[in-house]
Amino acid sequence: MSPTSPEIKAQVSVSRLRCINCGATADRAEQNFRCANCGDLFEVFYPGWETSRGLRAAGHDADSLKQIWQERKTSLAPADTSGVWRFRELLPSLAHGHEPITLREGNTPLYDLPRCAHAAGMQSLQAKHQGMNPTASFKDTGMTTAASFARQEGFRWVACASTGNTSASMAAYAARGGMRSLVLIPEGKISWGKLSQSLDYGAITCQLRTDFDGCVKVLNELVRRKPIYLLNSVNPYRLEGQKTAAIELLEQLEWQPPDHLIVPGGNLGNSSALGKALLEMKELGLISRLPKLSVIQAEGANPFYRSIREHGGKKLLPMQAETLATAIRIGNPASWKKALRVIQATEGTVEQVSEVEIALAKAEIGSDGVGCEPASAVTLAGLKKLVKQGFVKSGESVVLILTGHVLKDPEFTLQFHRGDLFTGSAHETSAKTLKPQQRAPLVLDATVDAVIETLERFDSKG
Ligand code: F0G
Repeated sequence: MSPTSPEIKAQVSVSRLRCINCGATADRAEQNFRCANCGDLFEVFYPGWETSRGLRAAGHDADSLKQIWQERKTSLAPADTSGVWRFRELLPSLAHGHEPITLREGNTPLYDLPRCAHAAGMQSLQAKHQGMNPTASFKDTGMTTAASFARQEGFRWVACASTGNTSASMAAYAARGGMRSLVLIPEGKISWGKLSQSLDYGAITCQLRTDFDGCVKVLNELVRRKPIYLLNSVNPYRLEGQKTAAIELLEQLEWQPPDHLIVPGGNLGNSSALGKALLEMKELGLISRLPKLSVIQAEGANPFYRSIREHGGKKLLPMQAETLATAIRIGNPASWKKALRVIQATEGTVEQVSEVEIALAKAEIGSDGVGCEPASAVTLAGLKKLVKQGFVKSGESVVLILTGHVLKDPEFTLQFHRGDLFTGSAHETSAKTLKPQQRAPLVLDATVDAVIETLERFDSKG
């Protein structure tokens, strides 16, 4: 079946936009994706889901949705092999004749992390690895939807401000969709891995002498002046695609919700998207209860943590962000109100973790043979704190959302194992505790004896 065949079109959902603040509704947004009335963000909603028989996504009840999604696993149609568009009843639909731009995103693994469970004081622990997407971060799940809408609307140029992963993902999807892409990234503050991806995928890549929040400011002005489609996570179509990670997760768990979902927080689009999916799945009867969704930030980039802990979520004070987890080095998160709603609705919480705690957690995730980028490791570091506080009980089920691949930031990993990640920084003394995790490469004479001697030394240490 082709993705635009009448059968598939009949299965999709009619969507509209609604402002999260004033409730104004619209079919199309301005180029900055802000409400014309009050300037706040839009979210996608599905008026057609309400039927006389209760909520039905594209006319289907929960059991038939589960069955349709299961059956598509054996289909070879591009929209079915995508781990995002496979769930298209819960996504905005493209107009007739428009194909999704897909790199077969989603379809990411759920891993057991026994060593990490032990380190956190848990009986078991799982991680959904969104770094196993085509461009190696969770951004692909949202980019496939938003880039497809950009092309449908006839845009020639797409653009984003990024700490690296959004730009890599956008550049790839723009290239696949025959569009040009413009990337604004903070100079010197993103890993070479991510920058090199955008270059290879053909983006025009500008390193601005500012931070991520400064790049966002420039971009917002730019889209007002030029016909450029904005692909940051203020774009609600991004979040609809990102929602599917939670749907896929619940399918992998045979629709038994975990007790907790733990997510890194930067611009707060991802936690908002995953939470929206949980709420929609509950409303549609796909799950019977909500997991608690908790957001973890780095101490040096913790505006959301402070907003909740110090101001009861009533306001968010932007800050100058600083952390080695560069992907979440964000001081003025755009989607904080959406994320707040999710935390409140699911009865989750927010926590912050130190640089040394992030580095340790990253190595521990590596020691389970999985690995992730530094920003993703805040989840394990945060879980340890939540267990100590009693918010998470050792026998509960927890899923960490790992957002980026271990190869995204090799400089961090190498410096960690060489022991010089924190040299000259305020964390130098506390970083001494990391020594047992460090495995610097060894330079040896090219003899078998030298290698055997090394092997025996490590073997005797257990
Ligand atoms: N983890 C990784 C690996 C990221 O790249 C990001 C954000 C986050 C977590 C935080 O997600 O912003 O939705 O709360 N990266 C952005 C970028 C902002 O430009 O790539 P968030």
